[in-house]
Formats: sequence, C-alpha cells, structure tokens
Amino acid sequence: MPLKPLKKAVLPVAGLGTRFLPATKTMAKEMLPIVDKPLIQYAVEEARAAGIEQICLITGRGKTMLVDHFDIAYELEKTLAERGKEKELAALRADAVLPGSVFSVRQQVPMGLGHAIWCARAFIADDPFAILLPDDLMQCEVSCTAQLADAYRETGGNVVAIEEVPRDRVNRYGVLDVAEDRGRLVSVKGLVEKPPIEKAPSNLTIIGRYVLMPEVIGHLARMEKGAGGEVQLTDSMAKLIGTQPFHGLRYEGRRFDCGDKAGFLEAQVAFALARPDLAPAMRDILKRYG
Ligand code: UTP
Repeated sequence: MPLKPLKKAVLPVAGLGTRFLPATKTMAKEMLPIVDKPLIQYAVEEARAAGIEQICLITGRGKTMLVDHFDIAYELEKTLAERGKEKELAALRADAVLPGSVFSVRQQVPMGLGHAIWCARAFIADDPFAILLPDDLMQCEVSCTAQLADAYRETGGNVVAIEEVPRDRVNRYGVLDVAEDRGRLVSVKGLVEKPPIEKAPSNLTIIGRYVLMPEVIGHLARMEKGAGGEVQLTDSMAKLIGTQPFHGLRYEGRRFDCGDKAGFLEAQVAFALARPDLAPAMRDILKRYG
C-alpha cells in the first residue's frame, strides 16, 4: 500500500506552564514572544514549511488566545489600512492561515502529554501525524518537521527527533534503547520516559518533534499512568515498536527549551543575532554585559 502523505500536525498547548509563573498566570506560555513572534507562531510556520495543511491545537483553560491568534484581527487590519501602515499590515497578513485549516480541541484536565494527544483522536483519524511541542523552539535551515517528514517517507513509519545529552541529564527526557545506530537514523528497540540515570539505556533523548502513526491512539486510550503519575506519550510509542518501523532522527539544527527560563533567554539572543535588523544592537548589548 502506498504511504499516506503527512498533512496533519497536533500542537499540545494545554500545559500549565508553572515554570513561568507569574507570567503565565493569565497568559498562555506559548504566547510568550521570542523577539517579536509568539512561540506558537514559530511552531505553525515550521509545520507549514513541512507541507502540513491541517493543525490541531490541544488547548485548555485560559488558552483561548492561542486560537484567536490564528483569526483575522479585522479592526486592527482596518485601522492599519486607514493609517497607511502598509509594512505593519503586511507583517500581520504574512502569518495568515487558510480558512478551515486550524482546529482546536480541549484537554479539560492536564493529565499528561499522552492524554493531550489522545484528545486529538477524531482529528487524527487514520492518518499519520506530526507533533510539535511549541516550547521547544527550533533553529534549523530546513524545518525540523520537514526533516522528520523526509525520514518518514524513507522509513515508512514512526520517527522522533533526537539529540545527545550529558549522561547526568537523561532522567529529564524520553530515552532511546538503540537497536542499530546508523548515524543520521537510529532504529529503536525500546523507549523509556525519565529513567533513573543509572538505568538509562543510552543518552539519546527525544525532543518535542515527532511523526507518529495513528495506531498510537489505541495504546493511549488505555490511559495507563507512567512517570510522574501522568499519561506519558513515550509509553504508548514504545508499544508500537516491533509492530511498525520506529526510528530516531539526529536532526540538523539547534533546539532551545523555551519552557525553561535559561533556554528562553538564550533563544532571545540567538534569534535576535539571526536578524539583520537587530544583530548589531544585540552584539552591542552582549559586549556591555560580557
Ligand atoms: P511541559 O512538561 O513543558 O509542561 O509540557 P507545562 O505544563 O507546559 O510547563 P511546566 O513544566 O508546568 O512549566 C510539554 C508540552 O506538553 C503540553 C504542554 O503544553 C507543552 O507543550 N502538555 C503537557 C499538554 O498539552 N497537556 C498536558 O497535560 C501536559
């Protein structure tokens, strides 16, 4: 049977964002800007650069602004047009999404990432889908999701973006048990979420980018709780191994963990330095604090 094309992405945004309190008391973590764009916008642009046509946001209480962000700001557009602010108007419209291409479902209680993905089961239906966690911000020449999409077409199955971390930090991540390490692609024989350091099968860890087959939903539906008492996506992904191809992809590029304060601040610097209009000012600032 020919491989189904990858056209759908799920963006879970229902987490509480406790590490950014009080900023996230009334504002969604995913609306925090890196330079002048909210995290959610970077994730949507990355998905679209990979040929994704339909996006489902898994929202929760206080997250409605994320859905609104993809609406047309009619009054604002009208005011900008009346004032001749063509540049600002173009910036606003550059982000526009096709009508009917952004969906949202509600995760009423944040029971874990696995539970969040299960909430999108009607959207996913029988199709392969990408997952992007917007607080992992990627700086890649080729969209990280596009790199995963290529690997999906190459391997015909599940692919997760991976990176190596120092041994003493493996207990914070989903970790790969490696069957065969072929460099760019790693075939996987097991996965374990947040293992104790001494029991971790490798130091190859999963970051917030995935391409998964719809069969994962059947495993998630059992609602088995894992590390931290949450319904973990990693545990259900592990159950696919042996029945479907499962690979890790050493993606090309950099990741910034914007769910963490230090990662968020580093992303501001890196993204400002990558902007010709801001790089000179940012370099001056860094010299002053060097
Ligand atoms: P995090 O582990 O970063 O949790 O979730 P969090 O709640 O967003 O932030 P902290 O740790 O309290 O500061 C990783 C991703 O999974 C989503 C989050 O929105 C984030 O994109 N998530 C997590 C859900 O959508 N639902 C959940 O139940 C848990």
